[in-house]
Amino acid sequence: MRSKVVPTKLIPVDPIHPDPGDMKSAANVLLDGGLVAFPTETVYGLGANALDGNAVERIFRAKGRPATNPLIVHVKGAEDARELVAEWPDHARALASMLWPGPLTLVFEKKPGGIPDIVTAGGSTIAVRSPKHPVAQALLRACDVPIAAPSANRSTKVSPTNAEHVRKALDGRIELILDAGPTVGGLESTVLDLTGTSPTLLRPGLITRRQLEQIIGPVRLPADSASGQWKSPGMMKTHYSPVAKLLLTNDEGTRLVRKLLRRYHRVGWIPLGEGQKIWFSELIQFRPLPNEPNEYAKQIYAVLHELDNLFVDYIIAQMPPDTEDWRAVRDRLSRAASPAEL
Ligand code: TXA
Ligand code: MG
Repeated sequence: MRSKVVPTKLIPVDPIHPDPGDMKSAANVLLDGGLVAFPTETVYGLGANALDGNAVERIFRAKGRPATNPLIVHVKGAEDARELVAEWPDHARALASMLWPGPLTLVFEKKPGGIPDIVTAGGSTIAVRSPKHPVAQALLRACDVPIAAPSANRSTKVSPTNAEHVRKALDGRIELILDAGPTVGGLESTVLDLTGTSPTLLRPGLITRRQLEQIIGPVRLPADSASGQWKSPGMMKTHYSPVAKLLLTNDEGTRLVRKLLRRYHRVGWIPLGEGQKIWFSELIQFRPLPNEPNEYAKQIYAVLHELDNLFVDYIIAQMPPDTEDWRAVRDRLSRAASPAEL
């Protein structure tokens, strides 16, 4: 179904001290059933009043997201989260007191009769997070309702780390974009399932498994679980994809890049660290990224968006090492990558 076109307004806001009047207008859009894209410390989110099933349905339409993929509900903090869940386990208390507000989403059993089923895709569990970004917090305070918000991109595409990425993807489909400049985290939140017998990492993110384990003890990876299945419906194999074909390499990419250039393909080349600028061709875009996980995370989506805007045919990225610190980045790169076809 095609959504009807709505004029999308963009308001620039200060990332630290957003204007209270602007926050009030944005809150009114949400309370009227509208959609507002707003910055979080990870990526931009596409928000609707989580208590308004019709507004939430518009999120699914605007994104082209399957109704089977549940949304994260954003709240000011632990007190509001407790209203939405059937049970608030000790692990939640410990994690929320140490890491909220912050880039950590927790999955709970849902309180019956609370948040509409469409938000949780009809499931019995609910994902909740308290975002740290001052604009997200100000918006939550101004509207005083929980905000359902996936990343503000079209389904399966690269998440937005600035307002322009949001505008390109969703112009005419949503009412408002709050532009607070680029986000600082750059990758989506860590998702931890607290509903089973032991906590399970459903999506790696900027909060690492090590950090979680320091607070609550052992955290399982989904592959350790009996079924061996990813339980998070959003953890589909292909996700976060640029339009160009993304290929991953474990070396300096020399062979692959050369092969593509010989065939006159336009190539974006993302080495790790300084990289070697060994090709001088108009066909190649050289975009080295820092050899440090947090800095890399902060920049990678913007580079993928930029290379798509330049209409490259292929993006070659050098895969970072297989260590805990790089888990989230490696996860996103693997999901964004095209099956090898050379
Ligand atoms: O950093 C973030 O988490 C951003 C910002 C905007 O907060 N949001 C975000 O939302 O990345 P989204 O919808 O793009 O990803 C949410 C992930 C999906 O993989 C979804 O399947 C999973 O969380 N999820 C949501 N509810 C769940 C639930 N009840 N059980 C398991 N996984 C759930
Ligand atoms: Mg997303």
